[in-house]
Amino acid sequence: MINLKDKVVVVTGSARGIGKAIALKFAEAGAKVVISDINDEVTQSTVAEFKSKGYEAFGIKCDVSSFEDSQNLIDKTVEKYGKIDVLINNAGITKDNLIIRMGEDEWDKVIAVNLKGVFNCSKHAIKYMMKAKSGVIINIASVVGITGNAGQVNYAATKGGVIAMTKSLAKEYAGRNIRVNAIAPGFIETEMTKAIPEKEREAWAASIPLKRAGQPEDVANAALFLASDLASYITSQVLVVDGGMIG
Ligand code: NAI
Repeated sequence: MINLKDKVVVVTGSARGIGKAIALKFAEAGAKVVISDINDEVTQSTVAEFKSKGYEAFGIKCDVSSFEDSQNLIDKTVEKYGKIDVLINNAGITKDNLIIRMGEDEWDKVIAVNLKGVFNCSKHAIKYMMKAKSGVIINIASVVGITGNAGQVNYAATKGGVIAMTKSLAKEYAGRNIRVNAIAPGFIETEMTKAIPEKEREAWAASIPLKRAGQPEDVANAALFLASDLASYITSQVLVVDGGMIG
């Protein structure tokens, strides 16, 4: 059993979906979790849900595409709990379109949230982790950042960028005992993938070697492992969690 007692963990975009599942998994392991999302209403109800289960949780509204919001998220976390041990850059959006139909706004928005958001939060968190000479950053990328995907040039570019940022940051801060890894989920059942027509989702699930779509908890289990001491010699890696989808 992995024990993260009193570790302080910030998860972006954690009001629902994969982020919420990650926060719950860490809370169950004894961590103090900061639930953070652009949607403050759902953030507060998620915090209340965690507290009703007896977990230590704190909510902070944050749009990760904002440099100021991201600084506030990390500073408030340290103000409240005295430190930040783990940052999970999970917030992400899609605005799918073929490039021929993709508006500049669809490109800019996805880059701002999925790519700049990781820069914003990591930059502010690393300041504290460097002082503490310890820390873990886990970036939620995607298999499409490795394989590419028609209709997702914006999204795939951000996720490929997140993988490259992961490897660069890992090299920059390994000497300070800060580990940086990425998780590349495949097809996970959340509100994000509910936007895909049901027939398409069924066909996808059937084509996965493990014969099912992934659940948010599948990603959360990988995050828990990477944050734990079991992974103390693992940095600069991309852990694919996709039921064998991309082989
Ligand atoms: P979701 O849409 O269910 O949840 C995303 C959360 O992020 C929402 O609570 C939303 O309010 C929040 N969010 C959106 N924009 C934000 C911003 N600017 N600042 C802060 N929070 C913001 O999505 P899901 O499926 O849980 O995705 C989580 C992460 O996993 C994303 O980075 C996504 O790209 C990635 N992913 C998801 C896969 C899937 O199949 N569901 C597959 C591969 C990667």
